[in-house]
This record gives sequence, C-alpha cells and structure tokens, in this order.
Amino acid sequence: MHDNPPNAQPARAAHHRLAPLTLHGDHELVLRVMPLPADVNANGDIFGGWIMAQVDLAGGVLPGRIAKGRIATVAVNQFVFKQPVSMGDLLSFYARVERVGKTSITVHVEVYAERNPADVQVVKVTEAQLTYVAIDAAGRPRALPRD
Ligand SMILES: CC(C)(COP(=O)(O)OP(=O)(O)OC[C@H]1O[C@@H](n2cnc3c(N)ncnc32)[C@H](O)[C@@H]1OP(=O)(O)O)[C@@H](O)C(=O)NCCC(=O)NCCS
Repeated sequence: MHDNPPNAQPARAAHHRLAPLTLHGDHELVLRVMPLPADVNANGDIFGGWIMAQVDLAGGVLPGRIAKGRIATVAVNQFVFKQPVSMGDLLSFYARVERVGKTSITVHVEVYAERNPADVQVVKVTEAQLTYVAIDAAGRPRALPRD
C-alpha cells in the first residue's frame, strides 16, 4: 500500500500493486472483503447477489455517518457488473456521496478486485448508485441532521 499515490485514478490503479485508499480523489475506501467458496455460482464465478449485498453494506457506510442513526436502502438506482469476480479476489469498495436531500442520501460505489498474487492486477468489477433514507424508531423517514 505504501507505494500507491493517495489519489490514484482508476485507469492508473491497474498499474499499481494494490488497490488504493481513495479513488479519483473523492471516493473513500469503505470496505474490503474476500468471497468464500459458498459465494460461488454454477459458473464458478462469484454470485452476483453476494456482490450486491456487499455493495449495499459498503454504500451505507457514509450515509450512516451523515444520518447519525438508522438508515434503510430505499433504491438501487443503477447496478452494473463490469467484470466477473473470482475466488481469491480481494474486493475493495469505494464510495462517494452524490446527493444529500431532506431525508435521503445517494451514493456512488465502485468495486475493484485485486487478483493474481504472483503478478497483482487491480480490475474494476462493479459500479452502482444507491439511495438510503434516514429512518426513525418507527421506520418512517427522518430529516437528516444539519451539522
Ligand atoms: C425507506 C422508507 C422508510 C422510505 O419511506 P417512503 O414513504 O417511501 O419515503 P418518501 O416517499 O417520503 O421518500 C423519502 C426519501 O427517499 C427518496 N426516495 C424515495 N423513493 C426513491 C427512489 N425510488 N429512488 C430514489 N430516492 C427515493 C425521496 O426522494 C425522499 O428523499 P428526500 O427526503 O431527501 O427528498 C420506506 O420506503 C421503506 O421502509 N422501504 C423499505 C426499506 C428496506 O427495507 N430496505 C432494505 C431492503 S429490503
């Protein structure tokens, strides 16, 4: 990690040995995880539903901080599987807040796979946009705190 510039661009990321801590200068690393054999589909790749669940978790990190309390996913606005994910890939999830509304927060998430330990490559595998809503104890939308 020490030989990566802090603001590595995605096109350049493939040339660095490890996935960086930030992306484009505005996407923050919010999760790293490696799939397990139980997450493999019939093709031998990783099941898309597992990746969607990880993206949902990763996407909620920044909204959770802003909302300072419970949030719920209200929408997956966009979801693209650009490349298959394989066993042994270490996935890095980067998020950026795109919009803060009255009760909702929309985030952009990019996922990169770090693979092939003998000659490490970093490949963009997934991109998504999700919206989260701050909710109260009864599960109703709640105005976001102002500070
Ligand atoms: C999240 C939930 C509380 C929102 O309640 P709601 O009555 O639909 O909310 P509202 O229509 O008042 O909209 C609340 C906010 O969400 C936004 N929103 C609602 N539907 C949206 C959609 N399809 N896409 C993007 N934003 C949406 C609204 O624009 C609004 O944002 P704002 O206050 O910042 O302007 C409710 O829909 C819910 O409980 N959904 C299930 C959540 C859940 O279980 N998620 C886990 C996956 S199963």
